[in-house]
Amino acid sequence: MRVRSAMAKAGRLALFLAVTAVGAGAQAAAQTVAATPPMGWNSWNKYGCNGINEKVVRDIADAMSSNGMKDAGYQYVIIDDCWQTDRDAAGNIVADAAKFPSGIKALADYVHSKGLKFGIYTDAGTKTCAGRPGSLGHEYQDAKQYANWGVDYLKEDWCNTLHGQSSESSYTLMRNALAASGRPIVLSICEWGSTKPWLWAGPVGNLWRSTGDIQDCWDCTTTWGGNGVIHIIDQINGLESYAGPGHWNDPDMLEVGNGGMTTEEDRAHFSMWALISAPLLTGNDLGNMSAATREILLNKEVIAIDQDALGQQGRRILKNGDSEVWSKQLADGGRAVVLLNRSAAPATIDVRQTDIGYPAGLAATVRDLWSAKESSGQIGSYSAQVPSHGVVMVKVKP
Ligand code: GLA
Repeated sequence: MRVRSAMAKAGRLALFLAVTAVGAGAQAAAQTVAATPPMGWNSWNKYGCNGINEKVVRDIADAMSSNGMKDAGYQYVIIDDCWQTDRDAAGNIVADAAKFPSGIKALADYVHSKGLKFGIYTDAGTKTCAGRPGSLGHEYQDAKQYANWGVDYLKEDWCNTLHGQSSESSYTLMRNALAASGRPIVLSICEWGSTKPWLWAGPVGNLWRSTGDIQDCWDCTTTWGGNGVIHIIDQINGLESYAGPGHWNDPDMLEVGNGGMTTEEDRAHFSMWALISAPLLTGNDLGNMSAATREILLNKEVIAIDQDALGQQGRRILKNGDSEVWSKQLADGGRAVVLLNRSAAPATIDVRQTDIGYPAGLAATVRDLWSAKESSGQIGSYSAQVPSHGVVMVKVKP
């Protein structure tokens, strides 16, 4: 009797442990998808619709896995618009056979064979922005197809949606379809901030565009909502409280190395994206980078700021005309601080220790993340000469 009750007890304990393990496993899986902002490459910024094909994608995977980027944390290789042409009689999405003759599954396998992850693009409307078939009405069918192909990341755009179509319902539908596919797939919501996704997308997707399409320029604007780097920064400021592990504001993909900005501007762009915990999705030709571009994209100390486990989106804490100071709290109690000079001339920018949330008189180490110079002591305040359209980025560690 006693033995039996001991066995029953052991059985109950085992059941309890199993249930707890399943619960913990599910939780761990939920937490590991985009626990830090996704890093990788996306085809759109450089290759657009006409330049994308399977050779480009393979070459990018080769480059990323061998040039230090994979080791630095870049992971996803994502094909944007224009890989698809049609649906077959059964409604299955059909890839462009001329540009992707080996098929999407073979391409995903290739990317995976390099130790990387594979991403793809669709649209919540009837057609993508470039006029290819969208997923409206095919969400479950497409999600199952993506999972069968081995897709790890899905960007879903918002062109050609129906009049009155709800963004929250549409993206929730795709989220449910992806969940039903049984494969963990990052969901990147791309409705350009048009329906304030930060208010509803946290439980729906892993990242959401907060703004229109990035332009490869410092401060240009377009009539249709595409903007240069500095305007995107202004638009994302104030959305800090909505971001965190698994759910990020997305100021759009990087233009570093695409030629529209100076090295100083590219460095400022990358530094600011790290400070605001943005996805670091490169958009240049990774197999053909200048030394300056490599140095920017491979700065591990700046990447570490973006990927900090606390997942706090940095914020603007001081603004004096074109001189700004931005700060981000880090998991180790430190702060990343960016001194940003938006003006056409060099400027000296100051920040006090109390401005970044430390008591006056605290001793700290200040490390410049671009020059790798370090100083320590009771800093009180920090002052640096900042180049035009440039930054000084430091990590402060008490
Ligand atoms: C929209 C998106 C871009 C890109 C294109 C593709 O403009 O915002 O990021 O995906 O569509 O057509």
